[in-house]
Amino acid sequence: MGLYALGDLHLHFGSELKSREQLSGRLWRNHEEIFRQNCQKMLTDEDVLVLVGDHSWGRNAAECEPDFRYIQDLPGRKVLLRGNHDMFWDAKKTESLNQRYAGSLFFLQNNFAAFGDVALVGTKGFTFEGPFYLNARGQIIGWDEGQAVHAEKLVDREAERLRISLDMAKKAGYRRFIIFLHYPPTNILEEESVFTHIAEEYAAEQVIYAHCHGERRFHDSIEGIMHGITYQLVSGDYLRWKPKCILP
Ligand SMILES: [Fe+2]
Ligand SMILES: [Fe+2]
Repeated sequence: MGLYALGDLHLHFGSELKSREQLSGRLWRNHEEIFRQNCQKMLTDEDVLVLVGDHSWGRNAAECEPDFRYIQDLPGRKVLLRGNHDMFWDAKKTESLNQRYAGSLFFLQNNFAAFGDVALVGTKGFTFEGPFYLNARGQIIGWDEGQAVHAEKLVDREAERLRISLDMAKKAGYRRFIIFLHYPPTNILEEESVFTHIAEEYAAEQVIYAHCHGERRFHDSIEGIMHGITYQLVSGDYLRWKPKCILP
């Protein structure tokens, strides 16, 4: 039994692709089929596949249905995290999504999923993405203060959701945690954040995140081991659509 992850599928079998420039280029050509084939080669139905947000361009359940069918047909137990583009997933509707897709898809928010003795915990997260102001040499010399204040509020709310989930898993007896965030754990100016602090406080083993796609964004946040915790980016184009093995 293995634990695998990948994010940012941005499926649009039942809806219109809205942001072509973000999802163009060599790495996005036929990505749905490449990912499907890689999953079939690498995973069995005993494995767990965490999809780390931005699943579908569909605005509602009906538009997402063909994308969900594609995900349901992948091997393994599927756990889905909420991404910033997942318009079908109102934060208050996680429970009803879990009832509707019980037995085929699990939606991870304000709850947890078990992988052996490890609790898989996750939330969308948030990071300040600017606008940043640059000088002629491309160095950051400032940023939009209003947007930064707004970002702080969203970060606080997401941090609270993450704590609720970790406490729930802890209460259920779990002592090993893997945290999934859709957004990276830090913004491009930070080396640590409330999310890295929470990961340390609960002694999470790994923090897995996505959202950074397009080659310019692959190194926006931390990767590798920091204070004993492994940070990994799993956006689909970064992984060339090969699900990443998080735990064998
Ligand atoms: Fe995305
Ligand atoms: Fe995203």
